[in-house]
Amino acid sequence: MKITVSLQALASGAAFGLAGLMWAVPASASGELTVYCSVQEEWCRPMVQAFERETGIKVNMTRKSSGETLAQIKAEAANPRGDVWWGGTGDPHLQAAEEDLTVEYKSPMLDQLQPWAVSQAEQSGHKTVGIYAGALGYSFNTEMLASTGAPEPTCWSDLLREEFRDEVQVANPNSSGTSYTMVATLVQLMGEDKAFEYMKALHKNINQYTKSGAAPARAAATGETLIGITFQHDGVTQVVQGAPVKVVSPCEGTGYEIGSMSIIKGAPNMDNAKKWYDWALTPAAQEIGASANSFQVPSNKGAKAPEQAPDLSSVKLIDYDFAKYGSSAERTRLLTKWDAEVGAAPK
Ligand code: F6P
Repeated sequence: MKITVSLQALASGAAFGLAGLMWAVPASASGELTVYCSVQEEWCRPMVQAFERETGIKVNMTRKSSGETLAQIKAEAANPRGDVWWGGTGDPHLQAAEEDLTVEYKSPMLDQLQPWAVSQAEQSGHKTVGIYAGALGYSFNTEMLASTGAPEPTCWSDLLREEFRDEVQVANPNSSGTSYTMVATLVQLMGEDKAFEYMKALHKNINQYTKSGAAPARAAATGETLIGITFQHDGVTQVVQGAPVKVVSPCEGTGYEIGSMSIIKGAPNMDNAKKWYDWALTPAAQEIGASANSFQVPSNKGAKAPEQAPDLSSVKLIDYDFAKYGSSAERTRLLTKWDAEVGAAPK
């Protein structure tokens, strides 16, 4: 809270100073920030508006999926254009930290955060930090299911059923952090050989590998697919909007994400990047999620978790090994294997 207030004071001071200096200060020093946002556009936008309102800093925002953003930051490494990467699953943020694409920053807000968010920071040498958490699962369209006469799916194994031929949708794990979380979850849950057997069998039931992780939840809501594999909170977004879908936490157990935030190495607006970083960890900023129909569990202990957020303590969660599955070598190896054995397999 204190930080929000001081940022506001700073903003009005900056705005006042700026009026007099309008012609003397170069654009880069007049308060700009480039944010790469990897949550839903509907949440990126109000975050940007609230930060601009509070600080007077002009934000340029680009929304892209987690894997795509990592690829972009890597491609721009010699001439960085982004300042902060906000949101998206933790694994690619950890990979960015290991590949020295992001910088260490210890926010004064750290002691207000949940232990899982702090451990994400410690794991990366403070090059990233947890901003929210959410469990993986799937949702299904209840009306479409009723028309097949099939029983409700409750487990990962149910997704292989014959009745679901061409009726399951999930993102491509190269572009999407959600889908990579699924690959890593299944490997940890079943062992690598069985997990790849499972994904090859599932491939027969997949109608489309989307670019964005949350798209299959929207497709299940509109009846474009019967089942969409996403984070459970993305299914909840559709339920809240009145779609005929039911969210499933798979009976065998499931993995989860620690949605993360990192400052890009060589950020052209480093001071403003740190201002965003500190602000995005405040309860007020984190509570914007729920008002944008995003139901992740926030990382600030003082932020109210949205009522509709899936209760993680009642989900059978695996002990997801973020150090291993967020490492550059393991993530690259699993994605290469997925491309060769699953993505490229005939149906
Ligand atoms: O905003 C929804 C969300 O599911 C986040 O919880 C998650 O971090 C992000 O999308 C992942 O998106 P993608 O799978 O497209 O990288």
